[in-house]
Amino acid sequence: MSDAFDGVRDHYRATGLTERLKAVLTALGPEDQRLTPRQLSTLDQFHTRGLSATAELAKLAGIIADMSVLDVGSGVGGPARFLAATYGCRVAGVDLSEPFVDAARYLTGRTGQGGQVSFEIASALELPFEDGHFDVVLLQHVAMNISDRARLYREIRRVLKSGGKFATFDVVLNGGEPHYPVPWARTPATSFLLTAVATREAVEPAGFRTLAWQDDTEAAKAWIAQLRASGPPPSPNLGVVMGQDFAELAANLRRNLVEGRLGILTAVFEAISVDS
Ligand SMILES: C[S@@+](CC[C@H](N)C(=O)[O-])C[C@H]1O[C@@H](n2cnc3c(N)ncnc32)[C@H](O)[C@@H]1O
Repeated sequence: MSDAFDGVRDHYRATGLTERLKAVLTALGPEDQRLTPRQLSTLDQFHTRGLSATAELAKLAGIIADMSVLDVGSGVGGPARFLAATYGCRVAGVDLSEPFVDAARYLTGRTGQGGQVSFEIASALELPFEDGHFDVVLLQHVAMNISDRARLYREIRRVLKSGGKFATFDVVLNGGEPHYPVPWARTPATSFLLTAVATREAVEPAGFRTLAWQDDTEAAKAWIAQLRASGPPPSPNLGVVMGQDFAELAANLRRNLVEGRLGILTAVFEAISVDS
């Protein structure tokens, strides 16, 4: 069936991903050896500033044990495994890409977190959960693949409890058209960037109040500069996930940040009732 997301699925098709991950992970020990989420962090945090960004966002969102957390566009599941291991919360992830969800389930088996962390194939615009189910929803480097932002943020609000937190960390349009390909889109056809201000204007009417608002662009640029200076590995090894051309996609992201075309936004919102 073809829909608005065919191009996005194609970008994240990652053929043979689980087999590639299995092969790479033999370096860490035999298949039956349990791994920690931290050991996987160069492979499974698919956003700028990697694990540190997830850790900072979780702190800003006030995640604690006993919470139920949803990671929308959960990729290969690194953020979800890290949150569960660090805070003891339950985490559900949804992602449009079947190979990514397969890989997320495999990696979660390797960390032994299957009782606490789960993944489903689903669209961010049709979340397979009842109203008011979650304490926190995370959205990291996903919104730029979604054109219908009003629906995205309404759907996130729907599954949050009143008073729950929506924590987002995303690429935003800054001062000009980006150079493509970039890590989330090989052409502009699957890239739907908004400015930081337009993002806020799309989020708040869905039933949110802004709690935290940070421009993370300088930190992202510093992180990329540091990675370039330190070279491969242990820098992020996302070529295993995205394929041979990942270095070119990442280089364009850097160029777009340095030239001021794109920025990075961190924001946390509180779910309010729409008439309050
Ligand atoms: C750059 S990756 C980020 C993955 C993860 N959030 C992380 O930070 O590690 C973007 C992810 O968003 C997913 N995605 C894009 N559009 C989506 C949609 N409409 N519904 C669900 N997932 C989507 C992609 O399949 C991909 O896994």
